[in-house]
Formats: sequence, C-alpha cells, structure tokens
Amino acid sequence: MCGIVGYIGEEQAAPILLNGLQKLEYRGYDSAGVAVYNSTGLHVVKSKGRLSVLEGILEGGKSLPGTVGIGHTRWATHGAPSDVNSHPQVSDGGKFVVVHNGIIENYLELKNRLMGRGVEFASDTDTEVVAQLLEYYYTGDVLEAIQKVIARVEGSYALGILCADCPEKLFAVRKDSPLIIGVGQGENFIASDVPAILSYTRDIYRLKDREIAVLTRESIAFYNQELDPIQKEPERIQWDIDAAEKGGYEHFMMKEIYEQPEALRKTISPRIREGKIVLDDITLTREQIQNIRKVCIVACGTAYHVGVVAKYAFERLLKIPLEVDVASEFRYREPILDENTLVIIISQSGETADTLAALRMAKAKGCRILSIVNVVGSTIANESDDVLYTWAGPEIAVASTKAYSTQLAVIYMIVLYMADQLGSVSQEEMAQYMADLQRLPDLAAECLQDKETIQYFASQYFNAHDMYFIGRNVDYAASLEASLKLKEISYIHSEAYTAGELKHGPISLIEDGTLVIAIATYEKLFDKMMSNVREVKARGAVVLGITVQDKEEALKQETDFQFCVPKITDFMLPSLSILPLQLFAYYVASMKGCDIDKPRNLAKSVTVE
Ligand code: AGP
Repeated sequence: MCGIVGYIGEEQAAPILLNGLQKLEYRGYDSAGVAVYNSTGLHVVKSKGRLSVLEGILEGGKSLPGTVGIGHTRWATHGAPSDVNSHPQVSDGGKFVVVHNGIIENYLELKNRLMGRGVEFASDTDTEVVAQLLEYYYTGDVLEAIQKVIARVEGSYALGILCADCPEKLFAVRKDSPLIIGVGQGENFIASDVPAILSYTRDIYRLKDREIAVLTRESIAFYNQELDPIQKEPERIQWDIDAAEKGGYEHFMMKEIYEQPEALRKTISPRIREGKIVLDDITLTREQIQNIRKVCIVACGTAYHVGVVAKYAFERLLKIPLEVDVASEFRYREPILDENTLVIIISQSGETADTLAALRMAKAKGCRILSIVNVVGSTIANESDDVLYTWAGPEIAVASTKAYSTQLAVIYMIVLYMADQLGSVSQEEMAQYMADLQRLPDLAAECLQDKETIQYFASQYFNAHDMYFIGRNVDYAASLEASLKLKEISYIHSEAYTAGELKHGPISLIEDGTLVIAIATYEKLFDKMMSNVREVKARGAVVLGITVQDKEEALKQETDFQFCVPKITDFMLPSLSILPLQLFAYYVASMKGCDIDKPRNLAKSVTVE
C-alpha cells in the first residue's frame, strides 16, 4: 500500500506534495519521491528512507520550483527499498513519470517484451513497466497511450501520470487501488486517500475502476476506458484529518482488522494462475522439496501462532514432520538441523532480533531458509534464501491482525504448492483446497459483518479479571492468537489451553462467572469440545462458543453466547475463527479505555533480545 499525491494549480507544487505525503506516510514509508514540471522541464527527486529524508533534500520544497507535480511514499512490494526503486518511475526517453499504488501482476512478462524491443529498465519495480509502456504506446495522445496501457496490464493500480509534452495536464487512472480527485479554486488534486488533500479541499470525486481523469488548473475531465467522456457526482468530505488517516475508523487496529479481506486478496490472487499456486518468488526446486526431511518454523508472538496452525497443514498434506518454535527458545535448544531441513521464518517486520538470530543459526547449519515477511527489503528478507511477501501493506497497530491473516494465507499456499510438487494429495482434494483458498477473502469479509454480536458480548465482560480460551487441534492454534490479542491490548490476564488438558490442572482455575471462550470449529472434535464446555460450565463458567454455521444449534445447547463462521477446509479455519476474536479483543480494550494502537510496554518491532 503506497501513498500518491498530485497537484496542478498556481501555487508551488513541491510543498503541497510533501504536506500531502506526510498525511499518507501511514500507507508506506520505506522511500519517497516527487516529480515537478517547470520551465526547465520535468524534474524527479526521490530517495530511500522516510519522507523526512526527501524533505531535507528538497529543503521543504523550496529547491524544486514548479506548479504541477506528483508525489509518492512507498511500501515496497516488488524491488527492495532504494533510490532507484523509489517512485516516481521514469520512462526510458524521459517523457513519462508515474507514481503507482498496487501490484502489476504481469510486469515480468511485459518487462521482458519491452526489453526485447530495446527498452532499458533502471529499476526492479513493477511500476516502471507502466512508465515504459506509456512511452512505448505514445504517439502524441496521452489518453490513447493510457487506454492501451490499461488494456495490457493485469493487477491493481492507482496511477498519477505526468507527460513532458503536455505540462498543463495531470492524468490519473485506477483499478482496485483507491484514487480520489480533489476540486479546488484554480487548482486540482489527486490522492490515494482523503487525508492528503483535506487541508486544501473537502470536495472530491472518487475514481471507479478504469476511469481516467485529466486535470488542468481550471477543469477536470473524466473518461471511461473507451475514452468516452463521463459525468461523475462530487462528494463532500465531513471527516476531520485524524479520522481520515484511519479511514474513518477510531484506531488503526480496527482499520487493519477490516483491511484483512483486501489484504488477503492482494496476497493470494497474484499467486494463483490457471487454478494452480505459482510462487514466482522462490527458487526451491522440486528435487529440493523431495529431499526435505523436516520443516522447522521459527517465529515470535503472533507469527509463532501462525506456525502452530502450519503444523497441522504441513503434516496432514505433506507427511513431512514439522517443528514449531518460538525463536528465543529455538536458538538455545540445540535443534537437530541439516541440509535436508527447511526452516521457515515468519516475521511481519522482518527485524525481530530473536527471529533473526534463529535464522542465522539455522543458516550456519546448512539449512535452507524460506521467510514469510511483510516488509520488503527487511533484514530477515535479505538474509533468506527465498522470501514470500505478505502484501498486507503497512501494519501500524502494535497488535498484529492483517499480518497474521496474510501469513496464514502464505502458509496455505506453500503447503499446496509443495503438495502439488510432491503429488501428496488427490486432484479432488487439491481442487477443494484451491476453491476454499480463493473464497477465503470473501468469507473473511462475511465474518466481519456482524460486529454487533461481539460488541455486545464484550460489553458484558470487559471488566473480567481472567479469560480462558480453549480449543483442540487447529482451534487450539487459533486460541493462542486470540488470547494474545486480548491480553496485549486490554491488559486482562488470559491463557489459551488445549481443551483436553483442562482436567490435568487448569480446570482448578474455573469458578463461578469465569469467562471461557471455546473455539469449536474443527468438526471432527466438536463433540469432545462440547464435553469440555460442559466440564467448565459445571464449575460455573460463562462460555462464548465459536463454531461453524451448521453446528450452531448444537452449540446453543451448551454455551451462553455463540458466534458462527462459514465452513472451510479444516486447516484454514483459524483464518476465520480469529476474526470475531480480534474484534472481541478490540472492543474489550476500547471499553476499558486502553491505548489500543500503542499498548503499554510493547513495540511494533522487537529489535532487542
Ligand atoms: C503481535 O500482536 C505482537 N505485536 C507481537 O507478538 C509480534 O507478533 C511479535 O513481536 C513478532 O513480530 P514480527 O512478526 O514482526 O517478527
């Protein structure tokens, strides 16, 4: 997820662009850049690092005069953060500069075709393909060139475009990534999101997919992809700036909870082609996969909980033994590792000290390292043999939500990819898994629709001193994450237990009114879970049950409150059951007045041991 701003008017563009990018830094912050047109031509200034680096280079905008420009703050997906990979991207002949938010899924194919025609590329980005294609198709009409480009590229894009031949115009087009047009007096704007322009105008248009906007100082024209002029309805923004940065949500955590369906789509769809998993990013060969004798997953916190889910999937589908460790333990338990061990490192930030140390230890023992990371170009990503990125966009809230969901999705894709390579599942099973994987984003959105039920339950119990999460199999894995979410933002003591273990000690903690959340979505063990529910109910517990829709009536017989999720492949169930429990943790913490995005004692990335 990146931030785009554009301006055309009578004022100096660079300060306006920098101000807008500041408001969008939450969307991405590994590099930034601007392009401004003035009497000496089209000038691009861009740099790796936070926006403040660019502001220093531009002296707050003073050193780059001009009244037309575009700007960008980047969250890298293709091409590690660097000066040359920063946006704006420039075409070979310098006629076009482009800023982009999204993923061009067929960029490699297009890049190879253009290089075959002698086009020279400067960066590793997917975005540069757009700038080069514009110049390649350009014969004097920018609109026609844009039309041809959007007919060729696949994937998601919000594009701001300047052409050196027509400096009195600013062009914009989008598909699947948001882009708004701001209406001023003698000036007009483009932006990825409202905060960037709210201090200049509250009157906007929202571009729809494949709509093209052409801005001048005095006018805004809209076209469809056939280049027919179209009329659009303006919208007046009522939000204040702080609310706008959070997309209208009160906290980044809630915004990121609701971004999960889109984050899943962005992470999954580029990796499914013709019904199969395609992992372009990894070099693991079929022979290497066939030689894997053990898999170790190493991570911390929420990322570790993803590994607990992965164990069920790997061993069930691949029949390869899998060990899951928290990194701080893995480092010191002298694990049995060799060149036939695949070590999977999971980390949102890619900078967690314990996880990085575990990676280095495993690498020193000759293991192959495959990492699942959200931050492109992070230390863990750079030190791995292969990296699969979660395209969740920046996760600002300390409590991880969309990173967890997209990490799970990448795990499913690794398992299905390896199962395909090993032929370890039937065609019918694979078809079912693939269908469920592709339904996952919509099913996640469905689970997030009924927030009122969860809000009500939270209102009944936000003063609890203790809460226990219980589950079996994949539900136990989900209960670990649900318990962590609750404790880290509400400060309520919470534990997760395997339900079958209660009778071996923990059940002594249950007394009248104790709150127990029973996750019972894994149908093969539903009846055993109901026995465990009856055990705690008999000792006075209040129980919230989570199960799949066709078990709702049975659950109602045993529990005080219920929440149901759609059915899906067993090992994918935690992707759904965690959603109401993320909301539960959020509402409890909110009702307790906690600092939800920045909980006490915690940091977003733990770069110390
Ligand atoms: C999760 O909500 C916490 N913020 C924390 O447990 C986190 O998952 C852990 O520190 C690992 O971080 P990483 O994924 O960036 O390595």
